[in-house]
Amino acid sequence: MCGIIGYIGKSKAAPILVDGLKRLEYRGYDSAGISTINNRNIIVEKDIGKINEIEGKTNFSKLDGNIGISHCRWGTHGKITRENAHPHVDCSGKISIVHNGIIENFSELKEMLIKKDHKFKSLTDTEVIAHLLEENYNGDIEQAARKALQQIEGSYALGILCSDEPNRLIAARNESPLILGLGKNENFIASDVPAILKYTKKIIYLENNEMAVLTDKNVSVKDINGKVIDKKIHKIEWNSELAEKGGFEHYMLKEIHEQPRAITETLNGRVENGNVNLSEEINLSEQELRKIKRIVIVACGTSWHAALAGEFMLEELAKIPVEVEYASEFRYRNPIIDEGTLVIAISQSGETADTLAAIREAKEKNAKILSIINVKGSSIERESDSVLYTYAGPEIGVASTKAFTTQLIVLYIFTLFMSGLRKTLDKEKIKGLIERLRKLPLQMDALLNNDEEIRKIADIYKSRKNALFLGRGVNFPIALEGALKLKEVSYIHAEGYPAAEMKHGPIALIDKEMPVVFVAPKDIYTYKKVLGNIEEVKARGGIAIVIATEDDKEIKKKADHAIYIPKNLYTLSSILAVIPLQLLAYYVAVDRGLDPDKPRNLSKSVTVE
Ligand code: AGP
Repeated sequence: MCGIIGYIGKSKAAPILVDGLKRLEYRGYDSAGISTINNRNIIVEKDIGKINEIEGKTNFSKLDGNIGISHCRWGTHGKITRENAHPHVDCSGKISIVHNGIIENFSELKEMLIKKDHKFKSLTDTEVIAHLLEENYNGDIEQAARKALQQIEGSYALGILCSDEPNRLIAARNESPLILGLGKNENFIASDVPAILKYTKKIIYLENNEMAVLTDKNVSVKDINGKVIDKKIHKIEWNSELAEKGGFEHYMLKEIHEQPRAITETLNGRVENGNVNLSEEINLSEQELRKIKRIVIVACGTSWHAALAGEFMLEELAKIPVEVEYASEFRYRNPIIDEGTLVIAISQSGETADTLAAIREAKEKNAKILSIINVKGSSIERESDSVLYTYAGPEIGVASTKAFTTQLIVLYIFTLFMSGLRKTLDKEKIKGLIERLRKLPLQMDALLNNDEEIRKIADIYKSRKNALFLGRGVNFPIALEGALKLKEVSYIHAEGYPAAEMKHGPIALIDKEMPVVFVAPKDIYTYKKVLGNIEEVKARGGIAIVIATEDDKEIKKKADHAIYIPKNLYTLSSILAVIPLQLLAYYVAVDRGLDPDKPRNLSKSVTVE
């Protein structure tokens, strides 16, 4: 996820662009850059680091010119370097662009362009667009953009400048968000409302496969074939604080709703045409990977729950023995690790002290380290042999939500990758699993837009003192995560348990005050046993709230409340089941008058022991 802002109008562009970038920094902050046109020359200033750091190192905000584009990066392709920062420029130096998204066919396009003697300066997918525009440019940048976009596959939000045409700013969008801001003798493009709310409240939302041509006095929107589209102008009523949260009341709710896009961006480029492409990201050879006899996963908190789900995936599909360890325990236990062990560290922040210490302990025993990280350039990343990123974008809310589901996605595609390598699944089976995996973002969208039942349940039980969360198999870690979400943002004492464990003690807790949340999507494994557990709770006067598969009539008869999720495969259903649990915790906290973004005693990253 990156941030883009562009300007054309009566004022100097650079100060407006820098101000806008600072309001978009939550979208990415590993590097940033600006490009303007002055005296028919493209000027570019860019560097690694946060906006304020770059401002101190360059004359970033003093560039001349009344038209410009700018970008803050959350890198997907290419390391964090100045060359890989945006904007990118073509060979002629006449065209500059900024981009948010992933160009899936960039390798073949780059090969074609190099054959046509284009010289590349970066390792990014984005730079391909600059040279493709140059290749298609015959004196009309709008036409060149249209032709280039018809050759591109993937997601993009684009800002384009051409020094031959200093009075036009071109924008285009497919999948990655982009809005147009309409001012008085000035117009804007931006990834998100906060960047331009200070200058205008009149917004046009670009849709997929739409382009826009902006001058200082006019904005026209066309489809990718050049047909003019009449767009509605929206009046934004948010204040700037609300704008930072995309109109949501809290970052936690915004980030819960960002999950479909976060999962799409985490999948992009990794599961194409029925294959899993991780080889370029994993710095371990196929030979080293085949030698792995055992996997140990170390993590804390929510990431530890993801690790437990990963254990089910890897053992079930890739047939690799997996142990999951609390990083804080692992680091002091003198663990048995050898060169046949792959240690996986899972961490949203990449800075958790216990997890960092755990991988240092493993490295001393010659283990290879693969980390699953959301924050690029973090300490755990730098000390790992290999990194698989979750592309959730910056997670601001203390309670981890979109990082968790994207961790599950990365674990799932890593499982498919290893299953193919070890031939525990054939190509056809893997292709089928990828097809079901690809359905998740849309299924999640449906869940997110239908949360009335969850709001109602939250209101009924918001004052309870305790709650139990139960699940079996891969739904046990999901139950643990549901309990952690509730306890950390609402302060209700909540515990997660394997459903079958109830009879070994916890069932003594059941009474009419105790809501019990069952994670019980229909599956061939343990569904009937969970029905029995629900009956045990009901027989003792407990309250059964069940996360169930849509059209499950059986559950309806037994549960006090049923929250339905779309049908999918066993492990993929468990990822869908996370959404209602996150929403339940959020609404209970808000109903209790608490701020879910800043829960007491907690911090976003626990960088101390
Ligand atoms: C989860 O909602 C909590 N914020 C916390 O348990 C968190 O998952 C844990 O501290 C690990 O953080 P990490 O993923 O950044 O390593």
